[in-house]
Amino acid sequence: MSKETFYVTTPIYYPSDRLHIGHAYTTTAADSIARFKEMQGYDTMFLTGSDEHGQKIERRAAESGEEPQQYVNKVVATFIELWQKLGIEYDQFIRTTDENHQRVVREIFQKLYDKGDIYLDKYEGWYCTPCESYWQERQVSEEEVCPDCGRPLEWVAEESYFFKMSKYADRLLEHIKEHPDFIQPESRRNEMVNFIESGLDDLSVSRTTFDWGIECPVNEDHVIYVWIDALSNYITAMGYLSNEEKFNHYWPADIHLVGKDILRFHTIIWPSILMALDLPLPKQVFGHGWLLTETGKMSKSVGNVVDPLELIEDFGRDAIRYFLLREVQFGADGTYSTEALIQRINSDLANDLGNLLNRTVSMVEQYFSGVVPAPDAELEVDRDLKETARQTQERVAAELEGLHFTTALEELWQFVRRCNKYIDQTKPWILGRDESQQERLGTILYNLLAGLRQIAIMLKPFLVDTPKKIGRQIGAQQNIRKASWEDLTEWQVLRPSSRVEKGDALFPRIDLDEYFEQKQESSREEELEVKGDKAESKKDDKKAKPSAEEQKENLISFEDFKKLELKVARVVMAERISGSDSLLRLEVDLGQEQRQLVAGLAGHYSEEELKGKEIVIVANLEPAEIFGVTSQGMLLAAEDEDGSLALLQPENRVEPGSHIS
Ligand code: MSP
Repeated sequence: MSKETFYVTTPIYYPSDRLHIGHAYTTTAADSIARFKEMQGYDTMFLTGSDEHGQKIERRAAESGEEPQQYVNKVVATFIELWQKLGIEYDQFIRTTDENHQRVVREIFQKLYDKGDIYLDKYEGWYCTPCESYWQERQVSEEEVCPDCGRPLEWVAEESYFFKMSKYADRLLEHIKEHPDFIQPESRRNEMVNFIESGLDDLSVSRTTFDWGIECPVNEDHVIYVWIDALSNYITAMGYLSNEEKFNHYWPADIHLVGKDILRFHTIIWPSILMALDLPLPKQVFGHGWLLTETGKMSKSVGNVVDPLELIEDFGRDAIRYFLLREVQFGADGTYSTEALIQRINSDLANDLGNLLNRTVSMVEQYFSGVVPAPDAELEVDRDLKETARQTQERVAAELEGLHFTTALEELWQFVRRCNKYIDQTKPWILGRDESQQERLGTILYNLLAGLRQIAIMLKPFLVDTPKKIGRQIGAQQNIRKASWEDLTEWQVLRPSSRVEKGDALFPRIDLDEYFEQKQESSREEELEVKGDKAESKKDDKKAKPSAEEQKENLISFEDFKKLELKVARVVMAERISGSDSLLRLEVDLGQEQRQLVAGLAGHYSEEELKGKEIVIVANLEPAEIFGVTSQGMLLAAEDEDGSLALLQPENRVEPGSHIS
């Protein structure tokens, strides 16, 4: 009999930026559930990928002076690097620029068109370029900003193809009501039901305002709008219209994991498209919450984006995976902070788990010269430990089944603590002094090793390196590597007379203050390096005085000068950038908009002194990332020989945003 399949997906990510810890959150969750199902004997399929078309990507590519394909290739390579470093073992990575995907999406469009579910009309309304979302007039307030992200909307009026989504509203509602697991968690299901009940409009599915997309098969002036293109990845990757055997094997998906911001697309647009194609719907769409920082949602412009690669470098991937899965209840919003991460590492990983392993292996070395002892007669306390292990594996499995990663790990840690308590109850260090207690001591240490084997196996869905490290130290590496969930039913598996092998601490404790000091130190060094480079180039400038001829070449034309957009800005607030001695983050008012700038003013002006000052900025300078903060422009200041700074300011008070010419 062939194995039962389990197919899980993450959203496909936009290669418009590097990925942050929020993206790592979804993908780690998907990886964890896939590993668990694999251990349960399922034929698993874990799909992730990249969503590479659309206006936003086209613009980003243009900004970096590259062809879109060249640009996405470069960014997608950074995704793959991150997933490798985080130990994400996806089975397939789909790119929407893949030849097969593009061909099948065109066929899907054609099918819907032939069926009469796609028709040509005119689209008029609000459009948010960063979110790639259209908004009806009734959904937009007077400020004319995107209801989702708050950024300014653009009014668009153009010919567009529409998908008859309204036609499927009743069937969809019925499906949601008959399949309570289809949208999870429950609170989000109610939100979606209300949304559908308030009436569904037909959906604009093509664009004429940009080119970077899949060409529409029925009209070459249009490209297929991003949601049909993106959502179809879940079936094109499984062989829809290209490998029917594979498609029938894996489809429908068991779980689409998505963030709450794109739940609507997955529970309304996507099932409607599938219904129109006469395909079965995915069994579940799970909308998880956001991972926020203490300063709110991560965003490049606020400069609070947490880079997972840096965290992996500093703390190791298992600590990051543990934190992501343990800290925030899957479904709710949660907060990332380095303090909370370090706290988890110290208390759960170093203290509870690390100590258990270290104490156990050390005692086997001390009392049995590193040889695994044979267990002997069982007492009540031993039976209780085994029974707790049995219950733990059942509970962890049940929690994982419902994607409750947090409670699954909580259950597992109760068992880790139970093992530590077993040491305190049985006091092996006292038995060790008494020759006649050798057999009892051997039984206790055997049980501890067996408990650690259980822990290592139960950790396999969550962590990548730790189960192997535990396996190596307790002398059961192969056994743990191969272990399935079923193997947890056996307690007495370790071979007496095999050897333990003491290794390094699983998770060294981290001193919070020392960590932050070190971080500041390395940022300072980085800063000095930058300054050093500048000083070097200044020296070089002095060394080579330009000749009259060269000076002439340095002249710029009036046309070039006109490209500079100089404006008056008023400083709203200023604050130090942590880790830098010289940099301040300024928020400035430009009349129509507020911006943030990074400026090397610390030591020259106090934060208070700057507030309310009118300054001059270059407003059309390409944004730059400095110390993790995005600087959207540059202020002008004069610097004399001894390094004193003076800000350039208008002589009289003028309106912020005034042009300088
Ligand atoms: N390309 C679309 C998805 C198409 S799926 C057919 C997209 N891409 S995205 O890169 O912007 O976001 C992908 C996922 O990352 C979304 O599920 C989103 O919710 C998630 N996250 C983005 N920031 C996040 C956090 N701060 N926290 C948790 N998840 C976050 O949308």
